[in-house]
Amino acid sequence: MGRSRSDKFVHMLEKIKKAADFIAERTPGFRPEAGVILGTGLGGLVDHIEIKHSVDYADIPDFPVSTVEGHKGRLIFGMLGGRRIVAMQGRFHYYEGYTPQQVVFPVRVMKMLGIERLFVSNASGGVNPTFRVGDLMVINDHINLIPNPLIGPNIDELGPRFPDMKRAYSPELIRLATDVAAREGIKLQYGCYVGLTGPTFETPQEYHYVRAIGGDAVGMSTTPEIIAARHMGLPCFGVSIITDLASDDSVSHEEVQEQGKRAEKEMSRLFIGMLEEL
Ligand code: HPA
Repeated sequence: MGRSRSDKFVHMLEKIKKAADFIAERTPGFRPEAGVILGTGLGGLVDHIEIKHSVDYADIPDFPVSTVEGHKGRLIFGMLGGRRIVAMQGRFHYYEGYTPQQVVFPVRVMKMLGIERLFVSNASGGVNPTFRVGDLMVINDHINLIPNPLIGPNIDELGPRFPDMKRAYSPELIRLATDVAAREGIKLQYGCYVGLTGPTFETPQEYHYVRAIGGDAVGMSTTPEIIAARHMGLPCFGVSIITDLASDDSVSHEEVQEQGKRAEKEMSRLFIGMLEEL
């Protein structure tokens, strides 16, 4: 006998709780205050974490396992900027074949573990003509063109059927980032991130389209996780590292990783500075 449709979603909540319980058992006494999701080539922030526990995705019940090169699969628990954090080293992308619900499963679990804020980074292509490779763009809005992870019966225990997406990116955290960047001498851009499914990079006309609809940067992640986080009421902060430009002749995953590595020191300083001030 199959489960009914609503049973399936009750089942999802049970899975989230089960994964969170498993992790809580592996991280005794450690309640994270903030969650951090690290994007392509941006795993180096982990070197700054005073690691207390680490849990492989593969060990966590119902956790997806990352497939893409450059993404390690584990949750890291420790201190960063004087705060207790949980960092996802490696994230899940829709283009890997996961359902939208699987993509956001870890965000649900981190919320269940107690996080009060979510920090996200990604590598993205710049479509704003004033952007340069290596720029850090604070995300102040997004346009989601990836299937919405909230489609399906709503899990009322987690959040409302129709979540507000105004101020999806916390104005307070954006202000804090601006202050920290000024102090640290980090140049910031600000703009709208457009989330597409990938895995193809954009055609020239698709880059034009992204610009025309109001985007400043484009990538293949982030919007699903932010949607799930906002569904649960979590304040969010996101940074895109501009690893290539719409105007470039070509783009490759290797180039994205290489440029991500170059800019990640600044991104790490920004995140750490922000955590210190919270
Ligand atoms: N397009 C989509 N995703 C990306 C890009 C891009 O140009 N760069 C890094 N991720």
